[in-house]
Amino acid sequence: MQFFIDTADTQEIKALVDSGFVDGVTTNPSLIAKSGRNILEVITEICEMVSGPVSAEVAATDYETMIKEGKRLAAIADNVAVKVPLTVDGLKVCRALSDEGTMVNVTLCFSAAQALLAAKAGATYISPFVGRLDDVGKDGMDLIDDILEIYSSFPEFQTQVLVASVRNVRHVERAAMMGADVATVPPKLVWEMFKHPFTDKGLDAFLEDWAGTGQSIL
Ligand code: E4P
Repeated sequence: MQFFIDTADTQEIKALVDSGFVDGVTTNPSLIAKSGRNILEVITEICEMVSGPVSAEVAATDYETMIKEGKRLAAIADNVAVKVPLTVDGLKVCRALSDEGTMVNVTLCFSAAQALLAAKAGATYISPFVGRLDDVGKDGMDLIDDILEIYSSFPEFQTQVLVASVRNVRHVERAAMMGADVATVPPKLVWEMFKHPFTDKGLDAFLEDWAGTGQSIL
């Protein structure tokens, strides 16, 4: 399973790259806005830091402009995955860019039917938003289960399931248990995954006992 980091904050990405747990990065227009920076500059910088896929989202909604934006973003680096919304025009762009060999991440997926369409349009990644489904009283991870079941029945589908809108560690655990290809995780949550109170408590006890021995390994 791959870990992508869901942020456009290059400082946060750098810290996690140093930890060795970054397989890729996802951004969206809201995250770019939060960074306060120019999208082309930020994506260029991220692609220099991360060799895995870096999702950069188009901002238009019509086919012609989305294609132009997608090509502009894809020209930044070989590891850019152009992110398009799950709309009729978005999936037409997905087909066109995929046919040219560009990675495409289809975003804002909220149903298995939409994921089926994205796979048929040649998407490299489908991004179902589990947290936003949880927010409205559904279990977002049920959608991941449904999509994985559908995709597993059709080996011709090459689309990878990228679990998005991840809000808690349990989402990541369940994504891994289900065999999702990727989870894109906000940086704060990746750091949380390292933590367990028993780990801290156990380490404190080990260090105290070790100090009592007066020994040194080096
Ligand atoms: C990633 O590709 C998505 O844009 C992101 O995970 C959305 O997360 P949110 O629902 O927390 O905004």
